[in-house]
Amino acid sequence: MEIINYLKTLNMKTLDFTGLTNVQKVTNGLQQLLADFQIHYTNLRGFHWNVKGKDFYLLHEKFEEMYDDAAEKVDEIAERILMLGETPLHRFTDYLKTNKVKETGVVSSGEEAVKIILDTYKQLIASERALIEKAVEIDDEATVALLSDYISEQEKEIWMLTAFLG
Ligand SMILES: [Fe+2]
Repeated sequence: MEIINYLKTLNMKTLDFTGLTNVQKVTNGLQQLLADFQIHYTNLRGFHWNVKGKDFYLLHEKFEEMYDDAAEKVDEIAERILMLGETPLHRFTDYLKTNKVKETGVVSSGEEAVKIILDTYKQLIASERALIEKAVEIDDEATVALLSDYISEQEKEIWMLTAFLG
């Protein structure tokens, strides 16, 4: 506790040590991505609960795997925002003002759920690409690496989901 108070008196900030500057455009984009992944997460939980039909067992499990993955990414994005010296949004009232990915209603068709997930990936990849450009501008390699990994994973998921539908 004493060390924390001592550090507070020094007013130490992450950016003093990382050497990153002008991070605002990147943190704004990360806040939007955080909101999008939180909405994506709750949509996936809905699909997991409500899916019906012959692929139930397969999709019920697949959607759980996907929402667990989304939850991990939520945490990674939030912690990246903290490393860049900002406070990540945590209230859904804020997410619903910041998001691009939209909430879905009750979806029981597995095919419809998969189509919505594909549209969500399209939206997420577009946001991530735009954000990578901003991160490159300020030499923020760590954000670039994080988002590049997300795009690789999402492109692989897109291949598998389109194969499932096709
Ligand atoms: Fe469950």
